[in-house]
Amino acid sequence: MPLTDLDGSIVAPRLPHGLDTPEVVVDLDRVDANIARMQALLDNRGVALRPHAKTHKSPFFARRQLAAGAVGMTVAVLGEAEVLADGGAEDVFVAYPVWAVGEKARRLRALAGRVQLSVGVDSVEGAAQLGRALAGAADRPEVLIEVDSGEGRTGTSPDRVAEVARAVADARLPLAGVFTHGGHAYRGPERVSGAARDEQSTLAAALAALDAADFEVRVVSAGSTPTAVDASAQPITEERPGTYVFGDRQQVNLRGSDPATVALAVAATVVSTAVPGGCVLDAGAKALAKDKPGWLDGHGVIPALPGATITSVYDHHAVVSLPDDLPPPAVGDVVAVVPNHVCPVVNLTDELVVTRDGAAVQRVPVAARGRTS
Ligand SMILES: Cc1ncc(COP(=O)(O)O)c(C=O)c1O
Repeated sequence: MPLTDLDGSIVAPRLPHGLDTPEVVVDLDRVDANIARMQALLDNRGVALRPHAKTHKSPFFARRQLAAGAVGMTVAVLGEAEVLADGGAEDVFVAYPVWAVGEKARRLRALAGRVQLSVGVDSVEGAAQLGRALAGAADRPEVLIEVDSGEGRTGTSPDRVAEVARAVADARLPLAGVFTHGGHAYRGPERVSGAARDEQSTLAAALAALDAADFEVRVVSAGSTPTAVDASAQPITEERPGTYVFGDRQQVNLRGSDPATVALAVAATVVSTAVPGGCVLDAGAKALAKDKPGWLDGHGVIPALPGATITSVYDHHAVVSLPDDLPPPAVGDVVAVVPNHVCPVVNLTDELVVTRDGAAVQRVPVAARGRTS
C-alpha cells in the first residue's frame, strides 16, 4: 500500500537543537492554533466544546482549552479527572461506563465533592451500582447515558435508553443527558461523514425515546475529532474531540487535522544505515507506539524523508525503507516522526518538550501518565 497524498502534505513541527532522542516535541503555537480553530468552528454552530483530555493527560493543555472557551473537560478514567482537578479544572465528565465499586466508589465520592462531576452509564446495573456507591453522599454527580451510534464498543441502544433512565432515577441520581462516540469514523476516510450522521440520528432517537417516557435532558453530547464538526447540528449540544489538540497522521488522513498544524512529533536519531536501502531510528514501539490502522501503511510519517516508510518497529528501533531516488540520511541525523496515533505516544513519555518558534521553552510533565483507573 503506498503512502497517501495527504501524508505528503504533513509539515512536521520544527525540532529544537540539543535533544536527547527519542523525545516528544510539541509546538505550542500550533497547539494554540488547533485549540482556537476547533473552538471557533463549534462556536459558529452554537455547540459547546468539552475536549477529551486523554490526548494530552495534562492540566497545562486543559487550561489553554478552557481559557479558549471550552465548557469543561472530558476524561476516560477517574485518575485523569483527579489530575485535572488538582490542576484547577472545575467541570469534568467521565465519559465511560464506570463500575463504581470499592476504591472507585470512594474516589468518585471524593471527586464529586471537588468538581462539577458527570459520569457515564450504559446499563441498568451500572446505574444501580452508581446509586449504591453514592448513597448518602453530599455531592452527587450528574449522569449521562451512553448510546452506541455504530462503533459497537459501549452504549445501550436508543430503544433501551428509557429503561436505563428509570434505573438512574431509581438510584436517585440526576439525569443530565445522553452521549455517544462515533468511533467507527476511524475505520477509514470513507466512513467519517456516515459516522457523523449516525451520531446525530442515534442521539435524536435516544432523545425521542426519553421524551416519550417523560424524561427531560439538557445535554446531548457527541464526539470524535474526525466527526466533531460534521456532526455539530441539531440535536447535538456538545462535542468532545480530544486528538485535535495535537493532531497526528491518522487525523490528517481522516481530514480531522490540518496537515500544516500537526503539533507533535517524535524526534529520533538515525542510528544505523548498515542495511542498504534503509535506515534505523532510535524511536521504536516504546516511543512511537504500535497503533496502525489497516488503511495506512507504516508506523508514522517522516516529512524530511518523503516517500520513506517505517516498515517495522521493535522496542527501541524503527526500521525505515527509503525510496530509491532519495539520498539516504547520515548516521546521527535527527528527524521528526509524525506518529500514526498521538494519544498512546503521549502516554509513553514522562515529559513533552514544548517549543515556540522552533526553540524549546519548557518541559511539560504528562501529569496523568499511568493513571489508567
Ligand atoms: C467517549 C469518547 N469521547 C470522545 C473521544 C475523543 O475522540 P477523538 O480521539 O477522536 O478526539 C473519545 C476517544 O476515544 C472517546 O472514547
